[in-house]
Amino acid sequence: MARRKLIAGNWKMHGIAGDLGEITRISMASETLSDIDTAICVPATLIERASEAAPGFVIGGQDVHAEPRGAFTGSISAAMLVDAGAETVIVGHSERREAFGETDAQVAAKAAAALAAGLDVIVCCGESLDVREAGNALETVGKQIVASLPGEIPEGKLSVAYEPIWAIGTGKVAGPDEIREMHAHLRGELGKARGETFANETKILYGGSVKGENAGDILHLDHVDGALVGGASLTADQFIPIMNAAA
Ligand code: G3P
Repeated sequence: MARRKLIAGNWKMHGIAGDLGEITRISMASETLSDIDTAICVPATLIERASEAAPGFVIGGQDVHAEPRGAFTGSISAAMLVDAGAETVIVGHSERREAFGETDAQVAAKAAAALAAGLDVIVCCGESLDVREAGNALETVGKQIVASLPGEIPEGKLSVAYEPIWAIGTGKVAGPDEIREMHAHLRGELGKARGETFANETKILYGGSVKGENAGDILHLDHVDGALVGGASLTADQFIPIMNAAA
């Protein structure tokens, strides 16, 4: 089944207003690539200005609280993301699961809140090097993503990002066989959990040291529907080649 590829950037805790020219350049390049989808997920403080710097380009957030409002100091609700101009949001990134002890159930609740507010959502999963080396990656990540899915999922609103933790920020991109095997496994687990239609329509992105020089090899593997890019999304010069490789 042909699924439109999604190339999403995750700026993490990088970027201030002076960096928004990069998003403007990325946005202009994306206008020439009508057969793929692109997005940049920025820190919450930048969402509104990023939306202004790139009208019509998809800007996203990097986390969302599961509750619609309340006494949650420092958190941001889905309605606040939408109010700032966000159209999508990453939930369950391994850096948040690790640093904040986010559980699969909490990630599922975050995703539910995002979907309820009309946001698209990218639900992250991925294994540690220990789990990979112990031969437990498929079972671990398959269980993780199924447990991280919200109840109701409107068609086409949820994507999955497989990001082996040992490949994030390390330059050690997963091998084609590892990516192909995991993505096929995740597609199968999504089908068992939510039905073949959901599995076939859900984009499964790869993330972990994606660069312009390796994107072409990764993006044309079976069951790879795009990429979630960290470091190489910070500048247009690095991100545009990845977008072009998907087109
Ligand atoms: O969310 C994407 C990120 O975790 C991947 O980071 O720098 O390895 O592309 P990077």
